[in-house]
Amino acid sequence: MVKVFACVVGARPNFMKMAPILRALRGYPEIRPVLIHTGQHYDPQLSDVFFQDLEMPRPDVHLNVGSGTHAQQTARIMEKMEEILVAGPPGGGRFDRVIVVGDVNSTMAAALAAVKLQIPVAHVEAGLRSFDRTMPEEINRLVTDSVSDMLFVSEPSGMENLRREGHPEDQIHLVGNVMIDTLRALLPRARALETLDRLGLTPEQYGVVTLHRPSNVDDPQTLAGLLRVLADIAGELPVVFPVHPRTRQRIEAFGLGHLLDGQRARQAALRVLPPLGYLEFLSLTSQARVIITDSGGLQEESTALGIPCLTVRPNTERPITVTEGTSTLVGSDPVKLRRCLEDVLSGRYKTGRCPELWDGKAAERIAGVLAAH
Ligand code: UD1
Repeated sequence: MVKVFACVVGARPNFMKMAPILRALRGYPEIRPVLIHTGQHYDPQLSDVFFQDLEMPRPDVHLNVGSGTHAQQTARIMEKMEEILVAGPPGGGRFDRVIVVGDVNSTMAAALAAVKLQIPVAHVEAGLRSFDRTMPEEINRLVTDSVSDMLFVSEPSGMENLRREGHPEDQIHLVGNVMIDTLRALLPRARALETLDRLGLTPEQYGVVTLHRPSNVDDPQTLAGLLRVLADIAGELPVVFPVHPRTRQRIEAFGLGHLLDGQRARQAALRVLPPLGYLEFLSLTSQARVIITDSGGLQEESTALGIPCLTVRPNTERPITVTEGTSTLVGSDPVKLRRCLEDVLSGRYKTGRCPELWDGKAAERIAGVLAAH
């Protein structure tokens, strides 16, 4: 009998995680995936462009929830997910399982709606813990894992965390990193783009910056401090900064635009861009000298690419990117950031290696486990 899996995505980092899973499930005719987009991210540059770049099918169902406070957004997703899960998949039948990825509000809300209807939940990227409950994503990770009965894990720390939290051994599977599946599959296409030429950049002679964590961008002093360091760094090395809408709004609300648009930044080659699609962004990161970021996904991508990553956070739920990979936690301390940057520019920075099972085949392993279950 055909089993129907609701595959839920909502925000930018979900798309590159779900794309390889959908592709791998095509090898199993006994599984019918139904793609549900919550609409947490709705700007074309945060959503549509990823569907194109990743060659993902159009969502079968769109919940159009949009932005809101955490409670509003979570509640809206739960209400609409419940309706869809009760109504059953388009074309008839019932949902046998819900698959969620990552740690955004859509992940947690969809998992909760499903488990309350006694539909089992599989969580991809389970077990990651920053042990920092001020991060909304940490709450999402804890809640999602606690209601999931299939937990797919990307690095050994996740296995330890889940064991410590009492998850039975037969529910946890170390499968590797689906985000890196996408990276490996699309790297040749990304590198063939002419993004560097268009921006007047030379391979390995520029840095890429992204910032969007509430802890970095929601406080005016922290944000101003970080923008000043970036303008400063750009004095030595051209810096490309695709700005997330949340960060853009905060820069405007706090009146900090002059730190980016001012004479100092322009002379110093701080290139401020709108958010980029998957391929364009990968074409930039894969040829950069250094990446400066507070993104979880980018810590992993830079480790897979072997590019130094200065992580603007005090902690990480992805410790393997520090212990084996190319990431260093610099917090929001400008002195530490500068010191690490000097190490990178002078060739003293660590090299790192790609973790085991980040081999481009994680989604195949997940599909195999799902099919055998
Ligand atoms: C969300 C995820 C975060 C992830 C990030 C990647 C949560 C709690 N956070 O953060 O883990 O790293 O996505 O991008 O789920 N906005 C737009 N256009 C959009 C979507 C949002 O302009 O398409 C603006 C809205 O004003 C919104 C704000 O960005 O209020 C924040 O969006 P939201 O989805 O709440 O969180 P992100 O900061 O994007």
